[in-house]
Amino acid sequence: MSDLEDRLREIVGAPHVAVDEDLKSQYETDWTRRFTGEARCVVRPASTAEVAAVVRTCADAGVPITVQGGNTGLVGGAVPAGGEVLLNLGRLTALDDVDVLEGQVTAGAGVTLEKLQQHARPHGLDVGVDLAARSAATVGGLVATNAGGLRVVRYGSMREQLTGIEAVLADGTVVSRLGGLAKDNTGYDLTQLLAGSEGTLAVITKVRLRLVPLLPARAVALVAVAGVPAALQLLAAARAGLPSLSAAELFLAEGLDLVRAHGKLAAPFAESYPAFVVLECSARTDPTDELLEVLGECPAVEDATVASDATGVAKLWAYRETHTEAISAAGLPVKLDVSVPLRELSGLVDDLPGTVSAAAPGARVIIFGHLGEGNLHVNVLDAGADAEQVSDAVLRLVAQRRGSISSEHGVGRAKTRWLSLSRSDAEIAAMRRIKGALDPAGTLNPGVLLN
Ligand code: MLT
Ligand code: ZN
Repeated sequence: MSDLEDRLREIVGAPHVAVDEDLKSQYETDWTRRFTGEARCVVRPASTAEVAAVVRTCADAGVPITVQGGNTGLVGGAVPAGGEVLLNLGRLTALDDVDVLEGQVTAGAGVTLEKLQQHARPHGLDVGVDLAARSAATVGGLVATNAGGLRVVRYGSMREQLTGIEAVLADGTVVSRLGGLAKDNTGYDLTQLLAGSEGTLAVITKVRLRLVPLLPARAVALVAVAGVPAALQLLAAARAGLPSLSAAELFLAEGLDLVRAHGKLAAPFAESYPAFVVLECSARTDPTDELLEVLGECPAVEDATVASDATGVAKLWAYRETHTEAISAAGLPVKLDVSVPLRELSGLVDDLPGTVSAAAPGARVIIFGHLGEGNLHVNVLDAGADAEQVSDAVLRLVAQRRGSISSEHGVGRAKTRWLSLSRSDAEIAAMRRIKGALDPAGTLNPGVLLN
């Protein structure tokens, strides 16, 4: 075996360097199964010092690195193109005590979101971001991709939770800013620069996160509506009338049929409807009455079912949260994650089926997403050889409506080709200069975000 692998073994211990295909393969394909690439080896360090030594060693050898957290990404950003050292951060699981006074916590990059939630909740605190992949997604990856999820309508995306970061730069230098000061205007904000940088500027090893109050009383409504305009009318009523609003999600009849067949779920309503909204309210005391009041007064509501007990809440959420696995079980989807201004949302949903079938005759479109942010997950099944044409047509449609080609999943390898639909030449040139300054040899996640 080569000098590089020997040196990596010295740093992290032989059991944590995988070179055999049967050991590497679980890390080489992403969650979608669409993106896959062979790593030179997989390295699993257990501390920031080990990460720094690995990065320095690879830099000295001129070998590029692909950085990976829980490997739950959907845009190929954490799997190699071919020949990189795959740096998996799953062993960085250090978790400090919750700082109740500051309402913050410091966590290693490899701590899963679920573990962090379990750590914070006994202290009456919670993590502001939540998403369906919580049991596997790690906080390093969530920050590196600025993940969004189900509670953005209330608490914002991952960068809004972030108060500090520790990271290893491309030459192995460690930068650490974990003090979590609420106010700190002492120059460039490296913490925020690294949020959403998709592993292209540095390797995040620890994050310091602001926590939110734990709100144990929840009420969830699954609401049937006549279409996207009615869903938006309900959203506006919920935003104005529900200070406890913590989620506002959308799915359509085709998605409901798929998740019902996949999960053997009962029909939520006696009649069929074209669109559905999940509203969740969270508070210290039961928010059911205020939720019912808003639903009762909103003419957009065709029918609704409400739950506030844990089992009932989980049952209603399942109609929305199992979309991803139900779609994946039905085939290998083209997954597009877009957002548009809310006033463009209905027009976009109307245009999508025609645009997709023109690009890929016979393909099926399943649309769901985060209503509050105008963020649609456009999943196209049976696109076959026309996958690229589907992506191109949909992303151009979104750009025409002044939207983003990646709302929350990132650019990864999947969307580098289309970055100019959402970013100007001047912006991309500035991004390239930042990348060149922090990673002049281009060894961190090459081919991701900027190609
Ligand atoms: C979701 O909102 O469920 C996730 O972003 C996953 C997906 O888009 O499939
Ligand atoms: Zn999402």
